[in-house]
Amino acid sequence: MIEKFYTYPLQSLNTFGFDVSARCFIKAYATQDILQLRDDRDFTRGKRLVMGGGSNLLFTANFDGCILQPLLQSIDVADETSEKVRLHVGAGVAWDELVRSSVERGWYGLENLSFIPGTVGASPVQNIGAYGVEAKDAIESVEYVNLDTFTVERLSSEQCRFGYRSSIFKQELKGKAVITQVTFCLSKRPRYNTSYGSLSEMVKQLGGESLRNVRQAIVATRSSKLPDPAEMGSAGSFFKNPFVEKSAAEELLKTYPAMPTFTSGSGVKIPAGWLIEQCGLKGARRGSVGVHPKQALVLVNYGGGTGCEVLALAYEICRAVRDKFGVELEMEVNVVA
Ligand code: EPU
Repeated sequence: MIEKFYTYPLQSLNTFGFDVSARCFIKAYATQDILQLRDDRDFTRGKRLVMGGGSNLLFTANFDGCILQPLLQSIDVADETSEKVRLHVGAGVAWDELVRSSVERGWYGLENLSFIPGTVGASPVQNIGAYGVEAKDAIESVEYVNLDTFTVERLSSEQCRFGYRSSIFKQELKGKAVITQVTFCLSKRPRYNTSYGSLSEMVKQLGGESLRNVRQAIVATRSSKLPDPAEMGSAGSFFKNPFVEKSAAEELLKTYPAMPTFTSGSGVKIPAGWLIEQCGLKGARRGSVGVHPKQALVLVNYGGGTGCEVLALAYEICRAVRDKFGVELEMEVNVVA
C-alpha cells in the first residue's frame, strides 16, 4: 500500500525548515509498493525526487513533480557469529535509531556516526561520515529498485564506489535508484576509532573506552557545535572540505602557517570551516539566513528564510574563499530547483 498526497507541505520534512510544497508526495512502506509505481503516472511522468529524512536537501521553490519517500522500517539480523553480525536494515529507519540500537546491543562500527540526522537509505548515497568513520566502513551491500527497469538490484560495497561524501548513487545512478535496504556488517569484538581531534580525551573523561562513552562524547560534541534542527534550520555541513594538490597546500601554508591540513591519498584536505572563518564570515547574517556562529561550515535558517537566500549566501561564501585562497568550495547539500 502506498499513500499519495497532492500539494503536500514539506516544511517539517526538510531540516532547513523551508516553507515549500510538493505537487505530489508518495509514501512507500515496502519494496513491492515501489515496484508498483511503474504504472503510476504521477511518478513516471515529469520530475521526481527520492527523499529520506530531508536533512541534506535545499529546496529553492515548490517542487513541481513527485517526491517518493521510502519508509521501510526493519532492523533484521541476517546472520551472526561470535565475531560479527550482519544486519538488513530498511531504508526508512532513522539513522540514529540504528546507531543507538547497535550501541545498546554491543555491536561495534557505527558509534562514531552517532546523532547524524537522516535515514538509513540516505546513508550510502553521500557516504555519511564523522569523527574518522564513514558509512562505507560498515556497509556490505545496498539493495535498490532500478527505476529504468523497475527491478530489485544489489550492489556490493565495492560496486557502490564510495568516496568522500560520494557514491555511485550520486553519480551514474543519480535519479535512477530507490534504495530499499542496506546491509551492514558490525563487529562484536571491541574495535574503537577515537583518534579524531579530542575524541579520545573526551572518552577518557567519561571513564574510558566503551561503546556508550564514545556515543556520549560524540553526541556532546555534535550538540555543542551543530544547530539543533528543532531550534534552527540547517542541513549540517553545507560544503565539502576541499582537496587541493600538495604543492598548492604548501604554497598556502607559506602565507597561512596556522591553516589546518589533513593529508589524504595524493592530496591535502583543508577544512572549509576554517577557510570560511578566515574570510570573516563565521556568524555572518543576511536577513533570515546566516553562517552558524559555532561552525562556519553550517548555513542556517533563523526562521522565515528561503532556499534562494541560503543559495545567495553560499555563492557569496564561495566567491570570498576563491578570492582569498584560490580554493573552490563544492556544495555538499543537494539543491532542488
Ligand atoms: N574549523 C574552523 N572554524 C570553523 C569550523 C571548523 O576553524 O568554524 C576547523 C577546526 O578548528 C578544525 C577543522 O576545521 O581544525 C575541522 O573541524 P570539525 O572537526 O568541526 O569538522 P569539519 O571538517 O568542519 C567534518 C564533517 C562533519 C563531521 C565533522 C566531524 C564534512 C563536510 N563535514 O566537518 O559532517 O561531523 O567533520 O567529523 O566533511 C555533515 O556532513 O553534515 C557533518 C556535520
